[in-house]
Amino acid sequence: MNDDILILGIESSCDETAASVTRNGREVLSNIISSQIPLHTLYGGVVPEIASRKHVEKIVPVIREALSAAEVTLQDIDAVAVTYGPGLVGALLVGVSAAKGLAYAAKKPLVAVHHIEGHVAANYLEHPDLEPPFGCLVVSGGHTHLVEVMDYGKFSIIGRTRDDAAGEAFDKVARAIGLGYPGGPKIDKKAKEGDSSAISFPKASVDGAFYDFSFSGLKSAVLNYLNHAKMQGQEVNDADLAASFQKAVVDVLTEKSAALIRERGYKKFAIAGGVASNSSLRMSMQEACGRLGAKFYSPSPIYCTDNAAMIACAGYYEYLGGARAELNLNAVPNVKLGER
Ligand code: KG4
Ligand code: ZN
Repeated sequence: MNDDILILGIESSCDETAASVTRNGREVLSNIISSQIPLHTLYGGVVPEIASRKHVEKIVPVIREALSAAEVTLQDIDAVAVTYGPGLVGALLVGVSAAKGLAYAAKKPLVAVHHIEGHVAANYLEHPDLEPPFGCLVVSGGHTHLVEVMDYGKFSIIGRTRDDAAGEAFDKVARAIGLGYPGGPKIDKKAKEGDSSAISFPKASVDGAFYDFSFSGLKSAVLNYLNHAKMQGQEVNDADLAASFQKAVVDVLTEKSAALIRERGYKKFAIAGGVASNSSLRMSMQEACGRLGAKFYSPSPIYCTDNAAMIACAGYYEYLGGARAELNLNAVPNVKLGER
């Protein structure tokens, strides 16, 4: 009798069609990601209708590949876990429909996973010692949250962005200096050639809500800087601008995380989401955690950006906790963390 629990995870909330099989939550047997980035680059950002159509094309081959790379069949799987939100509704629906079809056909339980819960769970994949409770900074293209992970699948939100997400700010600034989509990795690279103290950008905070974030002011400051330079006929050093902008974002994220670690006395602190693959943020958070006596956790970059291994991992803990979705599960594009 084999007591291992195999979860098939499916993710299609934005521009990656992904499927993965994990064993007992944390062991990744396969992790297949079909990225649409080259397609959306042509338009400077994700085009929702194109994303949905591409997911439809890719979802079955990607799931097949995830099963075969893991050397299992659908019958070996214990449950199918799928991202049901938040994300682009048409994109989410492709993954949700595929998961429902498979669960029904193979008579397997279906588990609905919140995308952010997945990002947080990415930290479990390579850190066997990491268990809740811990603090976590979630920074992606759509979200910027400071959360306390109280237990598997149980979160308390301490701070969130009031406007743009950190990743969105990276993408918009990259577009403004002609680096293209997706902006995060391009700014990260460009910043390495620049001087982060060349331009002083504002580090916005929200009155009366210390742990909340606001990035729209910073984005406007960058755009104003560019317009002003253009009007004056001055040349802009893109590397200096990228480095200075990135520093403003990283400093705010680190300062608030550090204040939270100090206030709550966390011994463990993790980062998650696409922006968590930023090299400067990783260094800055590592240094802050070290200084404050908290062990720092971060997923490898491949598990920071969207993937299905993180969904299979979060799905495993949901499954153990008894969570089961019905076959009328729907995509919920704006579901909040902690809501069902
Ligand atoms: O988690 P993710 O793949 O998708 C969402 O759930 O949103 O995050 C994508 C975001 C994009 O905004 C992208 O520009 C940003 O993560 N990103 C980065 C880096 N790599 C990806 N931002 C900063 N530095 C990076 N190295
Ligand atoms: Zn994501």
